[in-house]
Amino acid sequence: MPRILLVDDEPSILSVLCTVLRAEDYEVVSASDGQQAIEKIRAEDFDLLVSDIRMSPVNGMDLLRLVHDEKPTTSVIMLTAYGSVETAIEALKLGAFDYVTKPFKVDELLITVQRALAYRNALNENADLKQQLETRYEFDNIIAESPAMKNVCEMIRRVAPTDTTVLIYGQSGTGKELIAKAIHAHSTRKKKNFLPVNCAALPEPLLESEMFGHVKGSFTGASSDKEGLFEAAHGGTIFLDEVGSMPLSIQGKLLRVLQEKEVRRVGSNKTVPVDARVLAATNTPLEQLIKEGTFREDLYYRLSVIPIEIAPLRERQEDILPLLYHVLKSETPEGGEPLAVDADVCAMFEAYDWPGNVRELENAVKHAMTFAREQCITADVVPPRIVAAAAALPGRNSAAFDATRCKSLKAFLRDQEKNYLSQVLNFTGGDKERAAKTLRISLATLYRKLPEEEE
Ligand SMILES: Nc1ncnc2c1ncn2[C@@H]1O[C@H](COP(=O)(O)OP(=O)(O)OP(=O)(O)O)[C@@H](O)[C@H]1O
Ligand SMILES: [Mg+2]
Repeated sequence: MPRILLVDDEPSILSVLCTVLRAEDYEVVSASDGQQAIEKIRAEDFDLLVSDIRMSPVNGMDLLRLVHDEKPTTSVIMLTAYGSVETAIEALKLGAFDYVTKPFKVDELLITVQRALAYRNALNENADLKQQLETRYEFDNIIAESPAMKNVCEMIRRVAPTDTTVLIYGQSGTGKELIAKAIHAHSTRKKKNFLPVNCAALPEPLLESEMFGHVKGSFTGASSDKEGLFEAAHGGTIFLDEVGSMPLSIQGKLLRVLQEKEVRRVGSNKTVPVDARVLAATNTPLEQLIKEGTFREDLYYRLSVIPIEIAPLRERQEDILPLLYHVLKSETPEGGEPLAVDADVCAMFEAYDWPGNVRELENAVKHAMTFAREQCITADVVPPRIVAAAAALPGRNSAAFDATRCKSLKAFLRDQEKNYLSQVLNFTGGDKERAAKTLRISLATLYRKLPEEEE
């Protein structure tokens, strides 16, 4: 049942309207002045606000602004005295759905109420649908079949809309940057920058100026003022990758930026306010670095408000084949048919332990696609280390060691002997006597073996 908040400082109008709307099966809450209305708007949710414009001290326009800012899904209809159309138009500009002039006909008012509610429903459905589509689209590029990865996705969904600092932990190639980007893409900051900085890639002075900026002449080579990433990420997100490698001196400065929410460029004594959400990633547990004395504990607590851990790929068996097909599909040119994959290859991918995680799997698939023939990825085009590792595992079903294709030991030795005899005979140019000597067997024995060879 739609809920309507009715506001008018004229008791007779309030009571008539209440009766009329309740008769139409609307749930109606009434307020006899603006102040009362503010309390009700803040405390409860309404589908529609119907309010007189001229009230004092809080008037209808004030309520409209409040609803606009704090309850944007509530529709608004204004009641206005004859002759004050200008204010009514002002209300439309501020986002009111419509206005009704007093004295009004009941039917006219009811139709406007119906239209406002229908419009509101359509808008909200649209917003829900848009959000659903966006969610699906954004997570489209994250394969998450394993319970561990599903859990990570759930965490992304929950933390993304907040401004909380998130620390992502995972071995190399597990998808830390992908997760950080997804958090940004799902946050209210998505239209602003996502700026990654690799704390392991830059020497200390450069990292400092990259993060915080510098002013002209602050060090040799600083030929002009430069904005740092914290300033550039204003309103957006900064991603501190490999944060465990950050030098201690910069850790101290970062801590100050996080605490004071302002940044000072290198060589400057002016501070600039910053509003950048911080996401960080590490492949070495920071707890370990704290013990070793290379990471500040106080910074660790600031960064790991919400920790997200991505498990190594070998602990997420359910993700391996979906990732294989995902890479295959995304690497296939548009309109093309993705290659087929031999069952042997799937078994090898599942058996391998992927020390380089998803990145290694991506590279393996690209390698196999490059060498594949006849629209199919077969074992012979898979990188040898993956084939070898799978073959070495006892009881694993792989092309290199397939129990159903095994021969008896006798047959195996006879094949080897046949090979060797023909090699030696080749070497002696078919001279059987010399061959027998080389093989240190009698000529008769050689002859006995040869008919067998010719079978
Ligand atoms: N769950 C996943 N679904 C789809 N693609 C993934 C997934 N996890 C990782 N990838 C892909 O694997 C590659 C490596 O991921 P990413 O660069 O995010 O890893 P990383 O943990 O940051 O690695 P490094 O420690 O080497 O920096 C990327 O191309 C990424 O798109
Ligand atoms: Mg990375």
